[in-house]
Parts: sequence; structure tokens; C-alpha cells
Amino acid sequence: MSSRKFFVGGNWKMNGNKKEIDAIIDFLTVGPIDSNTELVCGVPSCYLEYARQKLPASIGVAAQNCYKVAKGAFTGEISPAMIKDIGCSWVILGHSERRNVFGESDLLIGEKVAHALNEGLNVIPCIGEKLEEREAGKTEEVVFAQLKAIVEKIPEGKWDSVVIAYEPVWAIGTGKTASPQQAQEVHGKLRQWLAENVSPDVAQKTRIIYGGSVTAENCRELAKEADIDGSLVGGASLKPDFVHIVNATQ
Ligand code: PGA
Repeated sequence: MSSRKFFVGGNWKMNGNKKEIDAIIDFLTVGPIDSNTELVCGVPSCYLEYARQKLPASIGVAAQNCYKVAKGAFTGEISPAMIKDIGCSWVILGHSERRNVFGESDLLIGEKVAHALNEGLNVIPCIGEKLEEREAGKTEEVVFAQLKAIVEKIPEGKWDSVVIAYEPVWAIGTGKTASPQQAQEVHGKLRQWLAENVSPDVAQKTRIIYGGSVTAENCRELAKEADIDGSLVGGASLKPDFVHIVNATQ
């Protein structure tokens, strides 16, 4: 086992209402949650404060997006300062749905990562290739380019606040998980890229988590891989089985 603390993110996406969120909070509170896992829930922005107030303090709360400046005339956006103001300390940035449904560019995502880190939030930047890119043999080229755009914007001394999520787009919400070997291959290459382009220390200590159809059934095999430090879970994070995913290393 590596010295990196196992990390699981539950990405609720645009799901849930107060009643359903109460049910999620109930099963997470009952747990029991392995204290060797760091758990963070990605909550729709209108429920961030509600979830923060009701979840145990040991469980982090993440916004699923934010803008790149502190305040101003940006209708519909929220800022890292606002996320912090309501007691939350994480944000997911550059999720494939932000990239592909809302057209966010590598540059914008990099700028958001920089601002969120400078404001003191912890950030889960997401990267991952599409099916046609994988089939064309371009997985590495794509994920390295996405990673570079993020890494260039990470301020000095902020790496402890970063958890990188590798989420192949073809595996998200499709039921087609990357095999542990497929995921490990990319995670290993991402870590090597960090060692060569940032520093061996950053490569060694930074958690790289896998996302894309993670379930209670496949989470343990994924967690056994040397460079997979946890998971980012969409659909399965809404159901009580999620506790098994959180406890995948037990
Ligand atoms: P999924 O989503 O687990 O439903 O595939 C993962 C994600 O998008 O973070």
C-alpha cells in the first residue's frame, strides 16, 4: 500500500432533492466509514450549505464547479469565496460533462484551478479521453495535454490541495468500467509525467483517483492497483452501496 491516503469522491451531479439528500446523508452517517479513507461529496450548488450542515464534519463537501474570479457580473456562476463562506472546502473542476456539455476549454479549467487554489479551496481537477481518442491510440496525448494545462496553473506550494481524477469519458455513466489494468496503465503514466514535469516528490504524494462506472462490485480490484488512490463515483454514490466503495481497501 502506498502512503497516499485513499480518497473517494461521491459526485452527485444534478441529482437529488432534500428528501433524497437526507437519505444519502443517513447512510453515510450510519456508515461505518473507514477512517483510512478521505471522503468528499460533490453536491449541487443549491444544496451545498444544507449538505454541509447535515453531514458529519469528517466528510468533506465539494462544489461541482466554480468560476475563475472572486465576484462580479457573471450571472449563474459561483466563486470559491462563496463556497468557502458556506463552510465547504472542495471543488470538482473540469469534469468531462463541463468540458463536453458546457464547452469548457483546457485554458478555462486551468484558470479556475488556479483561482480556486489561491482562494484556499481543495481541488479535484478531472481529465480523461473520449472513446474515439482511445481507439485512435491518443489516450496519452490527450490526458497529458489536459494535465499540462492544469499543472501549469497550480501555484507553488498548493499541491497538497490537489487530487487528480482520471475519468475516461467512455466509462462515465455507461456501465463500461476501465479494467483495473487499463486504469492502472494510465495512472502509472500520469504519475510518471508528474515526476518528469513537476517533481518526483509531487508525483509520489499526489493522489490520482479513477472515475467511470465504479461500483461496489469493481471497486476493490481497482483499489488494489499501485497507482489508483481511490475513486470518483457518480451514479453509485447515490445509493447505500456507496459505503462499500468508500471502504474498498478494508
Ligand atoms: P459514474 O460517474 O460513476 O456514474 O460513471 C463518474 C463521474 O462522472 O464522476
